Amino acid sequence: MALTAPSPIGLSITPRDRRFRRSGATPRLWHGGRVEATAIYNALSTTFPKGEAFFVESVRAFRDDAPAKLATEIKAFTTQEAIHSREHDAFNRRARDSGYVLSSLEAKVDQRLAETRSRPLIASLAATTALEHFTAILAHELLANPRHLDGADAETAALWRWHAVEEIEHKGVAYDTWLHATRNWTRWQRWKVKAQVMLYITRHFVTDRTAAALELMRQDGVTGFIAWRNLLAYLWLRPGMFRKIGGAWLRYFLPGFHPWNEDDRHLLSAYDVGAPAESQPKRKVRTAV
Ligand SMILES: [Fe+2]
Ligand SMILES: [Fe+2]
Repeated sequence: MALTAPSPIGLSITPRDRRFRRSGATPRLWHGGRVEATAIYNALSTTFPKGEAFFVESVRAFRDDAPAKLATEIKAFTTQEAIHSREHDAFNRRARDSGYVLSSLEAKVDQRLAETRSRPLIASLAATTALEHFTAILAHELLANPRHLDGADAETAALWRWHAVEEIEHKGVAYDTWLHATRNWTRWQRWKVKAQVMLYITRHFVTDRTAAALELMRQDGVTGFIAWRNLLAYLWLRPGMFRKIGGAWLRYFLPGFHPWNEDDRHLLSAYDVGAPAESQPKRKVRTAV
């Protein structure tokens, strides 16, 4: 069955090959001196270098017979994610330089990736599709609500905004690859696998990132009830990132879901127009579509 993907006409997936803070240190508590805020973003970042390489590998496994438009988008997606991996690798190195020990967090990521890779390739693609939805809705919320990066170190905030912009830009690629790879499945079969994988991914995403953030808070001397209270309040109440993405997360289960049913390109143009000079793309590596 042919499936039409409602990606916006003229959408450009444009890798912005930027480098963030290659000299000088990042303050240990770069997020406004707040332990829990710094911890959750650092915990997320530890997943990116290997996680995004896994996304690329999962999507590329299905590119061979992809239609030309999708194949071009996969190339641009690959370039964007490779640069994100590089920059988060550098970010994680700066976190280590400021004294954090990330080895147990990275071991957990390795374990989850090994579990997923032990299953059929289509399961890796379904996991990537679910995680790309997560990153797209987190990115939307991050850009739409300045409160999330309020008080953060300027260069580090720029890194997160840049990553968010490109996650929105390529949010349809893994999903379109999934639709293509499962084009001979029934709608029910596709929905069932997609929904099961999303529930599995969500459980591990929320519990693993919470545990990782608590470990980093422990390294800052915040433990026990205070650590749980501060972290849960930050994630679920104020600014409440996890609560705010709840509605968008649920839409993944709706019949006819596609990431571009939510056209949030205004957040991209606001970034490219409103960003300070040093945040403008230095070089357009490749323009797709
Ligand atoms: Fe990314
Ligand atoms: Fe992505």
